[in-house]
Amino acid sequence: METQNVLLEIKDRVAIVTVNRPEKLNALNGDTITALADAMSSANDNPEVRCVILTGAGPKSFVAGADISEIQTLNIEEGAKFSRIGQQAFRYIENMRKPVLAAVNGFALGGGCELAMACHLRIAAENAKFGLPEINLGIIPGYGGTQRLPRLVGLSNALHLALTGDMIDAENAHRLGLVSEVVPAAELMERAEKLAGILASKAPLAAGFILDAVYEGVQTDIDSALDIEAGYFGKVCETEDMKEGTAAFLEKRKPNFEGK
Ligand code: COA
Repeated sequence: METQNVLLEIKDRVAIVTVNRPEKLNALNGDTITALADAMSSANDNPEVRCVILTGAGPKSFVAGADISEIQTLNIEEGAKFSRIGQQAFRYIENMRKPVLAAVNGFALGGGCELAMACHLRIAAENAKFGLPEINLGIIPGYGGTQRLPRLVGLSNALHLALTGDMIDAENAHRLGLVSEVVPAAELMERAEKLAGILASKAPLAAGFILDAVYEGVQTDIDSALDIEAGYFGKVCETEDMKEGTAAFLEKRKPNFEGK
């Protein structure tokens, strides 16, 4: 039986997407990127799914990067295309309007770190390691790392990591703000599923508008960003979830958000 490079499981409104090439530390070859894009789009299109967890198979690695064996022979055009394919798959994830949580269970290097950064939230196992080691291969991060890392950890930390290729452990990643939580490895998926359950219980349209407002707003000046926020605040006021959430508070009961 052919092994699937990416697994998709759906339970209790949460999709769990697992990159599944543990023998290659879940390195992303072309087929795996295609399978990942398919799994994410299927989770995105499924109205039952309200939150996605992205993780790697096995105890050792989230994703150890793009598959280096597919890089060596690239020329200038092929290199740019290679970069674009990964960028587009990761941008699709970032643009999703359901929270995507990376559960980083080991190495998140190069494309693996870039994949985690394209997710909206990241939690890490204590044994996780992060880095952009591309410079050690004579290349640069090409799946968004040169752009997302400085946005997440600041120019100084980002340049240090990208120019040295150094790996950092989960505690340091937490200190830099690259992950929001570090948990013992054995508890990672339990914690990820608990957090995903909380995210899935929230008002889905409001979650989408928060993602839109934050991602659009951070790219512009504060006055334009506040206009963007006010626009989405207006839109959310048109939703049934807004009526339900405010009514539930006033009636002292739990809200039941239907995403309408
Ligand atoms: N691309 C292709 N294959 C990879 C890979 C990658 N990015 N990362 C790991 N692998 C493969 C190894 O070649 C090895 O395959 P093999 O058993 O057929 O030889 C297998 O995964 C296990 O990796 P190995 O290097 O033996 O494990 P390790 O525990 O000694 O080292 C790492 C782990 C992560 C430090 C090391 O694999 C590594 O440096 N990987 C590359 C990281 C990288 O540069 N990523 C950015 C790529 S652009």
